[in-house]
Amino acid sequence: MFITFEGIEGTGKTTQIKKLTAFLEEIGHIVEVTLEPGGSRIGKELRKILLNMDSTDITGQCELFLYLADRAQHVGQVIKPAVDAGKIIISDRFADSTIVYQGYGRGLDPKLLRELNDVAVSGNWPDLTILLDIEPEIGLKRAMTRNLQENKMQAEGRFEAESLEFHTRVREGYLTWAALNNDRIVVVNADQTPDEIFEEIKAKVVERIKGDYVTNG
Ligand SMILES: Nc1ncnc2c1ncn2[C@@H]1O[C@H](COP(=O)(O)OP(=O)(O)OP(=O)(O)O)[C@@H](O)[C@H]1O
Ligand SMILES: [Mg+2]
Repeated sequence: MFITFEGIEGTGKTTQIKKLTAFLEEIGHIVEVTLEPGGSRIGKELRKILLNMDSTDITGQCELFLYLADRAQHVGQVIKPAVDAGKIIISDRFADSTIVYQGYGRGLDPKLLRELNDVAVSGNWPDLTILLDIEPEIGLKRAMTRNLQENKMQAEGRFEAESLEFHTRVREGYLTWAALNNDRIVVVNADQTPDEIFEEIKAKVVERIKGDYVTNG
């Protein structure tokens, strides 16, 4: 089974993935956690370019193809092998990030982005996507506090440095995209305590695992 987490910066994706991993392992699943960009060896090189503050001169098309290249490698080398081995693989961001950031955020055509992503993922769309939704002001404040604490403002701050207007567009884009894909994407209110958020996520994941069990025996 393949689960992804989406949402703007600071919504709590990484925090919730840790909780979900601990829970799933406790009930006996083999869990693998991965992320985008940078889920594979080659992807780690691409991540450096994509998230570096010095990459502000990147063209929209170049950025798009680097994300797609990262994803194609990630799917082939990490995600598909894990699914085939019967594991639950959880990715911190995936194809929906590209559709929403490059599409709704930067103005490329979401339909075209969906088609390009179909090529990159070659059939391996997630079984379930958790979209953590929050006001951009709150998410960015959380992310900034964390970055200051972890001292990584320089290395990975490009998206956090984008305007609030951009993040508001991205948030709305996520909600629009989720409504169009409501068989797969579940929206969770991230303006709650980590435990409250996790209870909602847990219920959705357990429901999906049961459904999978019924379908696949
Ligand atoms: N529900 C919550 N309430 C308050 N603070 C939270 C909550 N969840 C996470 N945080 C804190 O907010 C910060 C951002 O959380 P986290 O790193 O999990 O977000 P993220 O979605 O992974 O962000 P990014 O997109 O930048 O990777 C962290 O310092 C985390 O401890
Ligand atoms: Mg994170």
